Amino acid sequence: MRFLVLGAGGREHALAWKLAQEAEVVVAPGNPGAAEDVETETVALGDASAVLALAKRVAADVVVVGPEDPLIAGVADALRESGFATVGPGKEGARLEASKAWAKEAMARAGVPTAASRAFVQFAAAADYARSRFNEGHGVAVKASGAALGKGVAVCSELESAMEALERMLVHRELGEAGAEVVVEDRLVGQEFSLLTLVSDGRFFSLPVAQDHKRLLDGDEGPNTGGMGTFSPVDWVSEELVQTTEDQVVAPILAAVPGYRGVLFSGLMVVDGRPFCLEYNVRFGDPETQSVVRRLGAGFAEALSAVAQGAPLPPIEALDNCAVTVVMASAGYPGPYTKGIPITVGPLPEGVKLFHAGTALHEGCLVTAGGRVLGVSATGPTLEEAADKAYAAIGSVRFEGRQYRTDIGRTR
Ligand SMILES: Nc1ncnc2c1ncn2[C@@H]1O[C@H](COP(=O)(O)OP(=O)(O)O)[C@@H](O)[C@H]1O
Ligand SMILES: [Mg+2]
Repeated sequence: MRFLVLGAGGREHALAWKLAQEAEVVVAPGNPGAAEDVETETVALGDASAVLALAKRVAADVVVVGPEDPLIAGVADALRESGFATVGPGKEGARLEASKAWAKEAMARAGVPTAASRAFVQFAAAADYARSRFNEGHGVAVKASGAALGKGVAVCSELESAMEALERMLVHRELGEAGAEVVVEDRLVGQEFSLLTLVSDGRFFSLPVAQDHKRLLDGDEGPNTGGMGTFSPVDWVSEELVQTTEDQVVAPILAAVPGYRGVLFSGLMVVDGRPFCLEYNVRFGDPETQSVVRRLGAGFAEALSAVAQGAPLPPIEALDNCAVTVVMASAGYPGPYTKGIPITVGPLPEGVKLFHAGTALHEGCLVTAGGRVLGVSATGPTLEEAADKAYAAIGSVRFEGRQYRTDIGRTR
């Protein structure tokens, strides 16, 4: 079986590395780390006809679309129309991520537990609604409806900060079209986790739970980022909680988007033991995937192939281990940062895998090329041992200004 994995990040490197244990894999465009493990090809992911031509040229049996943008643009539809079995929903299913306003309506219709909310395009009406929620004793989350690269949500415990967020999005249009419509949602207080579920035309199967740390600094302080590290398993997320989430959050929404083939990522807040849906994404999480694949045994390639074909899902062997992935980021991230800084990688302990994200080759030397540069992923019999191993390996991965958290897998 031959897979084509589309994308250039740490998620795609991890998927390719895992799939390559059981299948032939091509990644496009990939990155220097992925190129050490599998074949790579160049492609512009936004160009559906180029993607189709590539899928034909490499004779892909299954195409895995990694990031959300091509899914939102309908690349999975184009691939399926040309006969390629594809992991990733079409444009219709991708609306769950493309429009938070639409997703909230779909949740309401499907009876999915979620915070009360309304969508607005006009500042005055949004401000009135936010004020009324504060008067009723709630805080609010102000969310840009469109995809805003993790920068579109302001969680506000003061009316003033909600007003500022609404003004930035609706009046000053600081997030462009993504913020032309906003969702004002009651603020929930609880513990967060996310569930990654493989979906094959209504049949589904959840992968091991991983928890991410989105804040830049230890102890969940500092600004939000794309994710600074993940670990799996998560002891406070019981099998019963996963089951309840599947019953109340996953199954009802899938009934509302028939024919969904791909991954459904449910972002959840657990309040008094009950899961509330914060959002859906329509692809594998990054950097959750980097820890999750380390905990899967045989059967992942077969399972993704079944997803792509809308066939019954075969089981995936679950490993009895723990995984920790620590993200190493450029100095300045999540603000402006310099690219092109040389990276040196020394010998790594056994059981450690480096998943590349923002790296490039410059005259044969590995250099930084993004905010999140590498994910150092380790496994062990306990989370503590996996974390110790990841942090021991970090000593061998050097570039000027590198920043990372020191508490991944050590706190929750
Ligand atoms: N209703 C809410 N109450 C409290 N916190 C929220 C709420 N909605 C979102 N958040 C916080 O904001 C983060 C980002 O929101 P999310 O809906 O996941 O959007 P995105 O991932 O697209 O930025 C969440 O992970 C959570 O920490
Ligand atoms: Mg989110």
